[in-house]
Amino acid sequence: MQSFLIRNGQIVTHLDVFKGDILINHGKVQQVGANLKKVDSKTRIIEAEGLYVLPGGIDPHVHMELDVGGGLVSADNFETGTAAAIAGGTTSIIDFVTPTRQQSLLEALKERKAAARKSLCDYGLHMSITGWNVHTAAEMRKCVEDEGIPSFKVYMAYKETIGLDDKELLKVMDTARHLHARIALHCEHGDMVTYLRERFVAKGKTIPFYHPKSRPVEVEREAVIRALTMARITRCPLYIVHVSTLDAMTEIAAAIEKGQDIMAETCPHYLLFDDSQYDEPGVDGAAFVMSPPLRPSSHKHGLWRLLQKGQIGIVATDHCPFNMKGGKDRGKDDFTKIPNGVAGVEHRMALLYTYGVLAKKISLRQWVALTSTVPARVFGLYPRKGAIQPGSDADLLLWAPTKKHVISAKTQHQRCDHTIYEGKALTGQPHIVFVNGVIAYEEGNILVEKGNGSYLFRDIQKESTLTS
Ligand code: URP
Ligand code: ZN
Repeated sequence: MQSFLIRNGQIVTHLDVFKGDILINHGKVQQVGANLKKVDSKTRIIEAEGLYVLPGGIDPHVHMELDVGGGLVSADNFETGTAAAIAGGTTSIIDFVTPTRQQSLLEALKERKAAARKSLCDYGLHMSITGWNVHTAAEMRKCVEDEGIPSFKVYMAYKETIGLDDKELLKVMDTARHLHARIALHCEHGDMVTYLRERFVAKGKTIPFYHPKSRPVEVEREAVIRALTMARITRCPLYIVHVSTLDAMTEIAAAIEKGQDIMAETCPHYLLFDDSQYDEPGVDGAAFVMSPPLRPSSHKHGLWRLLQKGQIGIVATDHCPFNMKGGKDRGKDDFTKIPNGVAGVEHRMALLYTYGVLAKKISLRQWVALTSTVPARVFGLYPRKGAIQPGSDADLLLWAPTKKHVISAKTQHQRCDHTIYEGKALTGQPHIVFVNGVIAYEEGNILVEKGNGSYLFRDIQKESTLTS
């Protein structure tokens, strides 16, 4: 395997920013320091003067080829979605297994692993619990111990299809706690959403403008309060996905302050847009239909403040694109038929750098923590991933900090006929991306093929003993 010596880069970790060299050998970081020597005459030298060198991004919340019913599947598959991830500097993703209510978790896992094998970068899976039966607890144990899946997803919304009721959620939390696993929770009060949607539709209020009105701030806040209470009673660690409101975050921050093991995630779209997007006429507003929806702009400013204070630990994308044609346009006459989700995996690193670091809202070290190190720690990958230290996987992002780019659906790698970020100007782009010691991307070109990625067996308990 080719060895590499990256020289004179500005190395950025969650702890430090310093000038140095990195030696990569056999797919791993072998040494970090000054004036390092080549392994042998074949070592390729990369001069990184003027570049940042950071751990590759880890996006712990993506939905590649997600079947949402009615013959509709999210537009990126594991191959195209991970190519997009790499092009944007993300070198590991964590997607989901979503069994049907009757299906065995392990059978669904087998199918999902087969689909995910196409990935160009490393991939892990969270297991969604969509129902409860006599086998669920034992299967959850197998997921943790035999399959390296120490994280389970539960939806408090979508009760008609994949969501759980509170009694089932308590059982999942109790089981997870005994397995030292974490529950990733989609917090929206499903029954309230159903009630409001039905009310709007009955009154003929069916344009996308009514999507956020059917999922108001209270819907998220109520579910978060209930989730925090249940987690306190069961002593279960939580990961609250895609937090969109200041109201919910205030509750989460108070629980963290009191010592509860809670980690909060938000997404770039909640930091960069507000609900005025739904005022767009016709189907334009449909592009922004995701759940939870965009919020009035005071929330966006508040979320930035909480990122800065470290109360939101992770920025993930909830990448789940649907084409406008044949996808989002299904809901042109009824917002409840618009498939929920937006694309983001390709642009997360650059959006957060441009609108976070360069705007002085977060530091370089926070950028790395939010996009790589904290996801690695929370989901049992650290210090194999999310770190630059001897023995870590050589997943590295060489970042050109002044390179400009304007986002466009025409040039993106994400497989979608539009992007909510169309025309957004970025400063800072990947120059070279290493995945497991191999150059996967260099100056605009993807250099690895389908199947290059490996399944990530994750271990939260092992991580806690290694963490320094
Ligand atoms: O709107 C969203 N978030 N779509 C993706 C699926 C989910 O609910 O996480
Ligand atoms: Zn999601």
